[in-house]
Amino acid sequence: MTCKNIDIYTLIKPEILKLRNIGIETANLDCRLLLSETLERYETIYNHQNIYITENEIKKFQNLIQQRLRGKPVSRIINKRSFWKKEFELNDATLDPRSDSETLIESVIEHCPNKLEFLKVIDLGSGTGCLGLSLLDEYPCSEVSFFDTSKKSLEMVKKNAQNFDLLERSKYINLDWNVRDWDKKLMKIENNIKYDIAISNPPYIPTNDIKTLRKEVKKYDPFIALNGGKDGLDSYRSILSNLTNIIKPNGKIFLEIGKGQKNYVTKIAIKHGLLPKEYKKDLSGVTRVITFVIN
Ligand SMILES: C[S@@+](CC[C@H](N)C(=O)[O-])C[C@H]1O[C@@H](n2cnc3c(N)ncnc32)[C@H](O)[C@@H]1O
Repeated sequence: MTCKNIDIYTLIKPEILKLRNIGIETANLDCRLLLSETLERYETIYNHQNIYITENEIKKFQNLIQQRLRGKPVSRIINKRSFWKKEFELNDATLDPRSDSETLIESVIEHCPNKLEFLKVIDLGSGTGCLGLSLLDEYPCSEVSFFDTSKKSLEMVKKNAQNFDLLERSKYINLDWNVRDWDKKLMKIENNIKYDIAISNPPYIPTNDIKTLRKEVKKYDPFIALNGGKDGLDSYRSILSNLTNIIKPNGKIFLEIGKGQKNYVTKIAIKHGLLPKEYKKDLSGVTRVITFVIN
């Protein structure tokens, strides 16, 4: 197999131009990420580095670029996304983790500063496990139960837990919060031991708005991970109506919300006896996380 020694920029420049021409602003970064994937090199690669590359690898790289040109996000091509301190694997049943959701991890750390505390955590709607696994990593004495209606997404959490050596403190629970008495079913599985912390980033996009989302979202993120029902608030209604039954006294709840949902979710929470303790904004200034402390 012949191997070329080439400057990375010479190789990727024509591909950058093709991606720019269809309006992809992150064209340079995307090309370098796809080249890293091709070469199975997971450290940062720079434009003006020299590399050895075979004809087959060039073909593989160009194939990945073709997928990007057809609108597939880089994270879906390489099936990976970095979140908090780790690289998470994705599958077609999981949401592509968003950096805005890191606000929830920041909130937990602010409210639970003792990293060595034993914390029993439930991650409601766990997707890739990005939230719960990041907490397991931050709190080495904690345990997290991952709860999702999608078996395929729970398999992905398990794979990520394995990759990060966090399997031992994880539990996987396949339940649906729209089912009556989901809290009782959950407590039966957990031998009636309640949680210190509940975290959730539930689906919160109003059904009719999904079709207006960017193609990269509506085509590649699973509908079930986006769909919040007619007004976007269905999951909050289902979760909040039973949530206090599964949390210990002095326990804490951290809920991610969508833009403009602060007052609506607060109203649902108050109806179920929960008073917000704090609202936290994400980097764009959008209120993203509501924290509740149980009395
Ligand atoms: C917005 S995604 C969040 C995923 C992940 N926690 C994150 O932050 O990237 C919502 C998750 O809730 C799950 N889900 C949707 N409806 C559910 C239900 N009725 N019961 C349990 N899980 C549900 C979806 O499968 C999806 O994994």
